[in-house]
Amino acid sequence: MIDRIAQLRAQAGEAIAAAQDTEALDQLRVHYLGRKAELPLLLRDIGALPADQRGAVGRTANEARKAIEALISARSQEVQAQELSGSLLADALDVTLPGTPPRPVGRMHVIAATQRELEDIFLGLGFTVLEGPEVETVHYNFDALNHNPNHPARARTDTFYLRTEAGPGDSAGEREPSERLLLRTHTSPMQVRAMEAHPPPLYVVIPGRVYRPDSDATHTPQFHQVEGLAVDDDITLADLKGTLLAFARAIFGDQRDVRLRPHFFPFTEPSVEVDVSCFHCSGEGFLRDGSRCPLCKGEGWLEVLGAGEVDPDVYAHVPTTERNAPGYDPEKVQGFAWGMGVERIAMLRHGIPDLRLYYENDVRFLEQFGA
Ligand code: DAH
Repeated sequence: MIDRIAQLRAQAGEAIAAAQDTEALDQLRVHYLGRKAELPLLLRDIGALPADQRGAVGRTANEARKAIEALISARSQEVQAQELSGSLLADALDVTLPGTPPRPVGRMHVIAATQRELEDIFLGLGFTVLEGPEVETVHYNFDALNHNPNHPARARTDTFYLRTEAGPGDSAGEREPSERLLLRTHTSPMQVRAMEAHPPPLYVVIPGRVYRPDSDATHTPQFHQVEGLAVDDDITLADLKGTLLAFARAIFGDQRDVRLRPHFFPFTEPSVEVDVSCFHCSGEGFLRDGSRCPLCKGEGWLEVLGAGEVDPDVYAHVPTTERNAPGYDPEKVQGFAWGMGVERIAMLRHGIPDLRLYYENDVRFLEQFGA
C-alpha cells in the first residue's frame, strides 16, 4: 500500500512538472485529488485496514496529498506567469508601426511648390536665390526704382504704409519721406539691395511675399512674386528672351514660345510684357472642335510677367561701396530684370479659377497639388 502511494506521488510529480497550462493542471488536480481519485479513496477506506497499518498508511497518504497539492499550486503559479507574459507579448502594441491606413502627412502648398520649382529652374540657369525684407522703405520700393514723385502706385489706396515712431534725426516726428516704411508692393526693391551687396556680374532671383490693398477673384492683399536680375557687361534683350523661354518651357511645356510686347515700367528701359504661347490650344486660339480657347480667350498667348532692360537711372541709385566695388557704372554694365506672379503662374498651369482658393485652406483643394 505504501509503495502504491509512493508510486502515485511520483507519477503526479512528473505529470505536474510537465503540465504546460492551467487547464492541464486542473485536469491533474481532478485526476490525483478529485473525489473519485485513487489517493482520496484510499484515505477514505483506511478504516478497513488492519489496525497496525492504519497509522503509517494514513500518514503517508496524507503527506502525499499535501505534497501533490503543493506541487500543483507551485506549478500553477509558474504556468500563470508564463501565460501572462505570453499574452503580453502577443498583444504588444508597436507604436512605431504606421497606422492603418497610414495617416496622410500633408504636402507642400501649391504656392510654395510652384515657388520652389521656379527657384530650381533659375538655379539651373546659373542664378542665385536671395530673399529680402517684406517691410521696405519708400526709397527701395519706389525712389531707387525710378518712380516719379507722383507715381500712382505710391498712393495710400495702392500701398500699405506702416505707422511708425519718429525716425532718427527727425524733429517733426515723421520720418524722411524716403525712409517711411511700407509693405513692399513688389520684389523689385531687392534689385537695388542685391546690387548694393554684391559687385557685378550678378545673376539673382528673389522669391517672396508682396502686399497691395486689393481683394477680389484675381487679387489678394498678399501674394507672391519671383524677381529676377542679371547684370553683366554685355547683356541684351535677347538674353532676357532666352532666359524666359527656358522658364516658359520648363513650366508650361517643351513646345512653348515667348513673345515680348512693349510696355512701361519706371525701372526698365525698354520695358516689355512677356507672353507665353497658350498651352491649352497650342497657341492656335481655338480648340479642335473650332470653339474659342477658354484659357487664352482666343488670343493664342498668355501674359505671364513684366520685364525689361535695367534702366541706367536705377544703377545710378546704387552707391559704390567696399562691398560692391567697383560698383554699377551705368556706362559699363547692362542687365535685364523681370517680375512674375507665382499665384498667376500656378493658376494658369492648373486651371485654378479663383485666387482666393489658395488661402482658404480647404484640404480638398490643397491636396490636389504639391509633393
Ligand atoms: N515689379 C513689377 C510689378 O510688380 C513687375 C516687374 C516688371 C518687375 C518689370 C521687373 C521688371 O523686374 O523688369 O508689377
